[in-house]
Amino acid sequence: MTSTSNRRQFLQTSAAGLGVATLGANPGFWSAPSAKLRVLSIGVIGTIGAADRRQISSHPDAEIVGLCDVDSNALAKAKEQVPEAFTCKDYREAFAAHSDKFDAVIVSTPDHSHAPIMLTAMQHSKHVYGQKPLVQQLEELVMMERALAARPQLVTQLGNQRMVYPGRRAAVEILRRGLLGKAIEAHCWTGSPNPGRYFNYESQLGDPSSPPKHLDWNLWLGTASMRPYHASVYHPGNWRKLIDFGTGTLGDMGVHIFDTPYDALALTAPNWAETTCRPPTGVGHPERNIVQYEFPGTDFTTDTLIWTWYDGADAPPKDLDLPAGLNLPGQGSLFIGEEGTLLLPHVGEARLFPEERFKDYQRPEVPNNNHYHQWVNACLGEGKTSADFSYAGPLTEALLLGVVANRFPGQRLEWDAENLKVTNVPEANSLITHNYREDF
Ligand SMILES: NC(=O)c1ccc[n+]([C@@H]2O[C@H](COP(=O)([O-])OP(=O)(O)OC[C@H]3O[C@@H](n4cnc5c(N)ncnc54)[C@H](O)[C@@H]3O)[C@@H](O)[C@H]2O)c1
Repeated sequence: MTSTSNRRQFLQTSAAGLGVATLGANPGFWSAPSAKLRVLSIGVIGTIGAADRRQISSHPDAEIVGLCDVDSNALAKAKEQVPEAFTCKDYREAFAAHSDKFDAVIVSTPDHSHAPIMLTAMQHSKHVYGQKPLVQQLEELVMMERALAARPQLVTQLGNQRMVYPGRRAAVEILRRGLLGKAIEAHCWTGSPNPGRYFNYESQLGDPSSPPKHLDWNLWLGTASMRPYHASVYHPGNWRKLIDFGTGTLGDMGVHIFDTPYDALALTAPNWAETTCRPPTGVGHPERNIVQYEFPGTDFTTDTLIWTWYDGADAPPKDLDLPAGLNLPGQGSLFIGEEGTLLLPHVGEARLFPEERFKDYQRPEVPNNNHYHQWVNACLGEGKTSADFSYAGPLTEALLLGVVANRFPGQRLEWDAENLKVTNVPEANSLITHNYREDF
């Protein structure tokens, strides 16, 4: 593998060699081998797997042809919905034995298995609808960038379905049109973490037990290091707050809530990140968290942008000097511009302050888009996705730098995105490289 020290250079060279300008673009020369897009669903039940499959297969030109899951109960349940689909429990077998039967994959598995599965899919020239966050470890971003640079015809979409919500899209338009002047600060928060217990110490995991017969524990762990099974700790859905498998609330909900400012303000990689949270324990992500970032300025911001994330009991932020009449919802984002403030609840419409100044404001019209059908259409050669992996990668980079900063509370981590390195806290770099077990 090429060293991470020439990340951007490698990408420019490989993309140029293939005659394409951007990664993840759909250059339009791809034609699907069948009239319908044939899709393999990986991670078939869980919180989201069945919903992803239902949404994608509601497109008249998409069909689910295969199901893959490490849990035979989940597989049996999904097979009732799609009786004609082939089934397997190991994704490697799906690609080795059934690759001619499908054109695209949905990856709805726990975070630590996203990159290994998506990389395998891309190596087999399959389009990918991949759940968020894109990857779990920073170095996996470079691996994904390389895989895409090698196959730019592949169509990708991150599972941040809220990106096409009209309220969110209107907020992006408002910020881009400069109604608030340039953005000075952004604040994003969630006080409602997704399910999954927080663990601080190994002792809180309880006694190890045999995995249930329906679960293949080795396959569930995948590239993560082998360890004993603990009931109610990992599967299903509980892995989120564990550092080896999930990305905590920041990586989990951050993808949705960061997305608006990230997109609207055309941000790139942060200059630094600094966290306020409990000391690290080596087991679980912190249960409350404030992460501050500085981003380089863009056309839509002042010279630099200070951006703060709050979760758990630290959300919503408590010490902001808020305009009169503004109460913060449990989840959302706030943009402070030179000439006004915009509040965007996690789901809903933007409000502008001071209200008197914006009383004549007309909400921009935004077309309705179906996030899932957008991916199917793009795979079939029509249009583009709005959250392809060239967009999802940098967004995920910012989130994961915050996750690394959680392990060094109170220390500002200076970030060299070009070389994928923390420049001032060398021990942080051991958390950036991917660590896959060799016997998987
Ligand atoms: N976009 C959203 O709104 C949204 C909502 C929920 C979850 N998610 C994301 O979806 C992913 C899955 O989350 P979840 O809550 O459904 O998890 P979950 O643990 O509830 O379900 C995961 C499913 O994948 C299966 N699985 C696990 N490892 C597998 C592997 N290696 N190969 C095949 N199948 C495997 C499990 O058996 C289970 O059926 C996560 O990355 C999460 O962040 C996104």
